[in-house]
Amino acid sequence: MYNYLSPVDDGLAMRPAGPWAKEKLDYLNRYIAVFETAMRDTWRERNYIDLMAGPGKNRVRETGEVLLGSPLLALTTRYPFTGYHFVDLNEANIVALRERCLATGSGAAIRAVVGDCNTEADTIVDLLRPTAHRSLNLAFLDPEGLELQWNTVAKLASLPRMDLVINYPEGGLNRLMRKVYKATRETSVDRFSGDRQWRDVYRAWMTSRRLPVHRQLIDLYKRKLAALGYVEIHHFEEPLVRNTIRSAPLYRLLFASKHPLGDKFWHEVTRRDVYGQRRLLEAR
Ligand SMILES: C[S@@+](CC[C@H](N)C(=O)[O-])C[C@H]1O[C@@H](n2cnc3c(N)ncnc32)[C@H](O)[C@@H]1O
Repeated sequence: MYNYLSPVDDGLAMRPAGPWAKEKLDYLNRYIAVFETAMRDTWRERNYIDLMAGPGKNRVRETGEVLLGSPLLALTTRYPFTGYHFVDLNEANIVALRERCLATGSGAAIRAVVGDCNTEADTIVDLLRPTAHRSLNLAFLDPEGLELQWNTVAKLASLPRMDLVINYPEGGLNRLMRKVYKATRETSVDRFSGDRQWRDVYRAWMTSRRLPVHRQLIDLYKRKLAALGYVEIHHFEEPLVRNTIRSAPLYRLLFASKHPLGDKFWHEVTRRDVYGQRRLLEAR
């Protein structure tokens, strides 16, 4: 049971991951630490929401290294949240995660359910709404592909204080956009984006190739977040996580908060990468 919360093999299910997962998890871990340290005295109720939680541990395919996954990082942080909501579509992941959660003994309310992120978000928002006036929330949205729909982001955003860390699937979008931008039917890219405006951006980029396409698409996404009450930020690059074996872009981490302090924290955290190096701005 002791090993359930440590980054070692505890005999329960782990998620196979690339070495780059470490980078993503390090940004999240440091943001949680700053958020919880700064906010725990002001906000008695603080919830962490992880809609694609995984089993709680990852094993790096190439090295065998075990990494705590996002739910366990949030559970074992120095000043834990008061409530946790975990969702995963894969039952085996939730079974392993529940077992690991039992070892925390933190007294926090932990809910871990099997389900689709886009439907379970409704239930979570309903559960959090009655105390929303006195709570602070952080959601980590970490899809494998394009399963996260814009409507789900909008649902979470309907709560007054809901910080978001979103895995923007740049690699998946690169593979799909070219195939589907002319499709008349609704596609997963439309559902991820919330409408078809991305197609205009993509079409214009196909002909001019002037500004990097993901800069334009992320700016569009951020404008939509701003319309939901999030602070609009233009001045820093979203960290890009690459597949270091194929040297291909995988995803970016987008952050959104309705309070400028959230952006300040995120900016501080993402100035340095997992190796402590000052992050270089990348062109898209
Ligand atoms: C990138 S992994 C999450 C990793 C986790 N955040 C961590 O740090 O270890 C994505 C997870 O989403 C789950 N998943 C895929 N489609 C889903 C959906 N529609 N709803 C909820 N979970 C889903 C997968 O089973 C997988 O565990």
